[in-house]
Amino acid sequence: MPNTFNHKIDTSPIIYQIRIKGHLGNQWKEWFSGLNIIPEDNGDTLLTGALIDQAALHGLLRKIRDLGLSLLSVNCVNTNLKDLSEQGPNENLDSNKNCHLENEIARIFLTHTQKDTKMKAIICTKYGSPDVFQLNEVEKPTPKDNEVLIRVYAASVTAADGMMRKGTPFIGRFFLGLMKPKNPIPGTGFAGEIQSVGKDVTLFKAGDQVFGESSTTFGTYAEYLCLPEDGLLLTKPANMTYAEAACVCDGPITSLSFLSDVAKIQRGQSVLVNAASGSLGTAAVQIAKHYGAEVTGVCSTTNLAMVKSLGADKVIDYTATNFTKTGHTYDIIFDTIGKSSFSHCKGALTQKGIYLSPVLNLPLLLRMLWTSKIGSKKAKFSATGLRPVAELRILLNELKVLIEAGKIKLVIDRCYRLEQTAEAHSYVEKGHKKGNVVITME
Ligand SMILES: NC(=O)c1ccc[n+]([C@@H]2O[C@H](COP(=O)([O-])OP(=O)(O)OC[C@H]3O[C@@H](n4cnc5c(N)ncnc54)[C@H](OP(=O)(O)O)[C@@H]3O)[C@@H](O)[C@H]2O)c1
Repeated sequence: MPNTFNHKIDTSPIIYQIRIKGHLGNQWKEWFSGLNIIPEDNGDTLLTGALIDQAALHGLLRKIRDLGLSLLSVNCVNTNLKDLSEQGPNENLDSNKNCHLENEIARIFLTHTQKDTKMKAIICTKYGSPDVFQLNEVEKPTPKDNEVLIRVYAASVTAADGMMRKGTPFIGRFFLGLMKPKNPIPGTGFAGEIQSVGKDVTLFKAGDQVFGESSTTFGTYAEYLCLPEDGLLLTKPANMTYAEAACVCDGPITSLSFLSDVAKIQRGQSVLVNAASGSLGTAAVQIAKHYGAEVTGVCSTTNLAMVKSLGADKVIDYTATNFTKTGHTYDIIFDTIGKSSFSHCKGALTQKGIYLSPVLNLPLLLRMLWTSKIGSKKAKFSATGLRPVAELRILLNELKVLIEAGKIKLVIDRCYRLEQTAEAHSYVEKGHKKGNVVITME
């Protein structure tokens, strides 16, 4: 909707010059119809025009703020007032009382907007325990032409985030940074609202509720995040909270990738999910059921009812029964925490059974190489997060459809505030979470 400022003003208007950072994208121009929009050589934009009263100025400045544009200065040009950003609070009060009142409003917005160029974020400048995290105020990112600026409302805290914080296994540092994290703001899974978009963005607009993953660029433990529009992000299913949506790119996308792409799950197959109570496990049970498998979930006594409620046909309490010794065989054994091994599970696999583990170690690597050539039973691993973004988007789209149809629900164990991120990591590291853990900033 265009704004209502115009030049037909019957009281004494005041001419304002309002400078904002960056050139105004075409999508915002109609919001400022009635004002002259002058792109300046230094890359800023000058908006000039007559505003009838305090309410009009108030509305205009609020609009600039809501659109996520950075306000640099406000000038009242038909009086002898100076640039408001330099002016003292009581100057010119006698010379032009009305203009002063209006300028006071501008000053409040300018201060507010300048504060808006900063954001709170967790900063991690070295590898180590959760204590390496510090809550700091840093520069808010500015979207490039092909990027969106997202107000992050929730960020997932995953087992993989803990490994990235520690910089283990060492080979991972070739992506993360050899001696210290390349990106000091950690976190990958997120959900939030688009605050502004770069001039070339066509897929999203300000106000869209989105979810996804920042992948190897990290940065989700912060109030704002920039991502390319063709990154791993989609509009959020309406039947999900931000906290739930932030976790879809951990367990659900990994389990879908393993079951559907790596194991090529088929209707009627028997599937055993070990650690069915974790992030990958809770998703794997529901995904395998959706694909028409007969699902057995393995978990501790306290989680039996929860796993059953997710649709598991059978549950095994690992504190009482070793699932490899029950005499049952499975077409797929998905050990979502990699605590077993191919050799332990081999006897519980059907003739062409597949053992899946998301946790890579040397024995698994050797088994993968061996079974890829010899024998009908296979051991398989995949690094879901390293798959091309285009492939991950397809998986995320599939999950979105399943979530919207009510076929997959996210289990949320605990929510923490941004300043409690270290606490959240310590909890996840204990290895007993039920489903997912989230940082919420709503
Ligand atoms: N390859 C990839 O692409 C990829 C992607 C994402 C994650 N991952 C990895 O996948 C692994 C699993 O992640 P996650 O987030 O799903 O784990 P998680 O949620 O932390 O899993 C913990 C769950 O496992 C249960 N558990 C613990 N010991 C168990 C046992 N002996 N038998 C059965 N259940 C047990 C725990 O409940 P109780 O303690 O109450 O039993 C808890 O509910 C992590 O190592 C992560 O790094 C890999």
